[in-house]
Amino acid sequence: MGAELPADGRITTCEISTRNAAVAAVHFAASPYAERIHLRVGAAQPVIGELPGPFDLVFIHADNPPIWRISRPCWPGRPRTG
Ligand SMILES: C[S@@+](CC[C@H](N)C(=O)[O-])C[C@H]1O[C@@H](n2cnc3c(N)ncnc32)[C@H](O)[C@@H]1O
Repeated sequence: MGAELPADGRITTCEISTRNAAVAAVHFAASPYAERIHLRVGAAQPVIGELPGPFDLVFIHADNPPIWRISRPCWPGRPRTG
């Protein structure tokens, strides 16, 4: 995904498992697009509320809590929290 972003593009990825985040961090650091990838360790929901938006793409591949609850703050017109 990093390769397809414009130079000022940004990916924010959230990972709740510190073990999985550590594995991902190694690969992100080795990527030629490392400066475009921002890894946030922790639950996605509070992080999404902090991100300025708007988002060009939201990709959710987590299941705890249900995807609709994680994605709700990203819906247009929704309050950014909760
Ligand atoms: C199916 S894997 C996807 C991994 C990777 N994001 C991907 O797209 O290849 C689901 C990952 O989501 C993490 N996860 C589950 N619930 C989460 C949440 N609420 N916030 C952040 N990460 C979560 C799990 O620890 C797991 O590593």
